[in-house]
Amino acid sequence: MSIHTDKIAKKVTLTTIAKMKGVEPITMVTAYDALFAKLFDGNVDMILVGDSLNMSFLGKEDTLSATMNQMIYHTQAVCNGATLPLIVLDMPFGSYTNREDAVRNATRAYQETNAQAVKIEGGKERANIVKALTDNSIAVLGHIGLMPQFLRSDGGYKIRGKDKTDIDSLIEDARALESAGAFAIVVEGVKSEAGKAITDAVNIPTIGIGAGIDTDGQVLVWSDMFGFFEDFKPKFVKQYSKGAEIIRENLDRYTTEVKEKKFPSKEFTY
Ligand code: KIV
Repeated sequence: MSIHTDKIAKKVTLTTIAKMKGVEPITMVTAYDALFAKLFDGNVDMILVGDSLNMSFLGKEDTLSATMNQMIYHTQAVCNGATLPLIVLDMPFGSYTNREDAVRNATRAYQETNAQAVKIEGGKERANIVKALTDNSIAVLGHIGLMPQFLRSDGGYKIRGKDKTDIDSLIEDARALESAGAFAIVVEGVKSEAGKAITDAVNIPTIGIGAGIDTDGQVLVWSDMFGFFEDFKPKFVKQYSKGAEIIRENLDRYTTEVKEKKFPSKEFTY
């Protein structure tokens, strides 16, 4: 087993990410606050301040009610904690329904945080929005496949790329985003054949989540991958630790020690 111990020493830029396609897998995790961003600093290429925070951080059922103000607040916190990864602010549902709103809201993201890019969900139908943003010097990470912001209109979370017609349609989405100037694309919840076909079809990096091994990088939601979020676990989530269990066990030790008047002992007393 090999353990990857290399720390990232330099600020990751859009150029760094572009150069990694086909050369070195890109690592991305989500973060919502400075504490965790600091832990991830120097250990991942990219941090996404995902609107998934609406579920894992705020306890809501889906991502749809996240607001621009929330995304800015959490991105500011992440930027305070991490300096090296490329930081992306996820544009919330309703903040980019037309070009004017998209440019206004993404400009806020740039002016009020140090994020280097924004992410928007949608394929060919959103290419005009991506173009409006990139024309205004705002870097865009696309997001295709299973798109959580389409939950209600799609009637649930649906795995994509199950047949050739759908794979072709996803490839068209990816190419449209590339032509509109997106610097990379998140590909979520697709069959691994689709993940590979999309990756092979574009010259910009693809970052998979539930898209198999052949994408140019991988992203996971931190609270899923470290076992803190327990409401449900999608098949693609590998839990690298049992966060919730660790917290519960140690909280139990603390409460027992307080109840039994064992904490604070002399060592922790002035
Ligand atoms: O909001 C989020 O965390 C995301 C990832 C699942 C890619 O969009």
